[in-house]
Amino acid sequence: MSKNQVYIFDTTLRDGEQVPGCKLNTHQKLIIAEQLDFLGVDIIEAGFPISSPGDFNSVVEISKIVKNATVCGLTRANKKDIEVAAESLKYAKKPRIHTGIGTSESHIKFKFNSTPEKIIERAIEAVKYAKTFVEDVEFYAEDAGRTDNEFLARVCEAVIKAGATVLNIPDTTGYCLPSEYGAKIKYLTENVKGIEKAILSCHCHNDLGLATANSIEGVINGARQIECTINGIGERAGNTALEEVVMILKQHPYLNLQTNINSKMINSVSRLVSESMGMPVQPNKAIVGANAFAHSSGIHQDGVIKKRETYEIIDPKEVGVDHSSIVLTARSGRAALAYRAKNIGYELTKLELDEAYDAFLSCADCKKEVTDEDIHQIMESIHIDRKIIVA
Ligand code: KIV
Ligand code: ZN
Repeated sequence: MSKNQVYIFDTTLRDGEQVPGCKLNTHQKLIIAEQLDFLGVDIIEAGFPISSPGDFNSVVEISKIVKNATVCGLTRANKKDIEVAAESLKYAKKPRIHTGIGTSESHIKFKFNSTPEKIIERAIEAVKYAKTFVEDVEFYAEDAGRTDNEFLARVCEAVIKAGATVLNIPDTTGYCLPSEYGAKIKYLTENVKGIEKAILSCHCHNDLGLATANSIEGVINGARQIECTINGIGERAGNTALEEVVMILKQHPYLNLQTNINSKMINSVSRLVSESMGMPVQPNKAIVGANAFAHSSGIHQDGVIKKRETYEIIDPKEVGVDHSSIVLTARSGRAALAYRAKNIGYELTKLELDEAYDAFLSCADCKKEVTDEDIHQIMESIHIDRKIIVA
């Protein structure tokens, strides 16, 4: 493993699929898993096998078809969960069991009615038991975001000794500030004996809109795996968005952190997940929203037409979007109208453009967006013919 490699652990089919009303059937999950494998994710969390026969079956079938990625199944820290997960992963080329338990004061007291010492014992037992089935065992310290760092370090040390290969530090409730989450990861890298034998993983929820920022702070401070979902889907406000962390690392090469993701597939996989789940992507969503590469104000349009980089930090082709779009609204200027008119065959002189622009504004004031059809009508109304043959 290169020191600068950040592993992408995709949990669209597990944490992502917990979105109410967005359940996928096995066939849909198989199509998504295959695309995630092509996309280059390192680990696919395929489901929570004990949760239902359908989920179990999906993990079995995904294990059979995934060629490159590790396939992972979630469990709680008990034998039955672990046995069922191991069974569901038996066809996987690279199987991983993801087991764990809540470590925050409130989880220990109210969820488990237990004590910190007993929680550590259960964590060790679960990891040791999972190790009897697979070599690759990831441990999650649920609610690590609100867990005292000293206790969290003790848990991490104990599960590494028991054989955990990856330590997942979830900010389960999306509570942490980026500086806090980064400091937590740093604390673990500096205070857990044996930490060099394991990979620290960021699993951040988006309740305060900080999931992506927290994951990035995590890897800046030494974590080397990010758990994320396509389009940031997941419980409540969702999980870290895969497309965001991947493009942040790509757009900031001085961080010297790389992923294996083929970013040119991001747009198509985003659409596939959105359509399969019946869950539209908000138009202003970073990277994959319909407006992520659309420009509608006159000043921005003029800049982008002259040089795309004036208002875009990512070439849309890098994420599989053909081109930036110039949307015509009442806020658009002459440059945008001339550009869009030229695209459909009208090469306008300055005088023609002035006349067309007045007609355009009257039209734009009555509509949300002016379409190519509207432009044809505007040109016809002022007797301007097409001069360019458009293929
Ligand atoms: O958010 C969380 O803590 C989780 C764990 C089960 C990994 O999803
Ligand atoms: Zn989660």
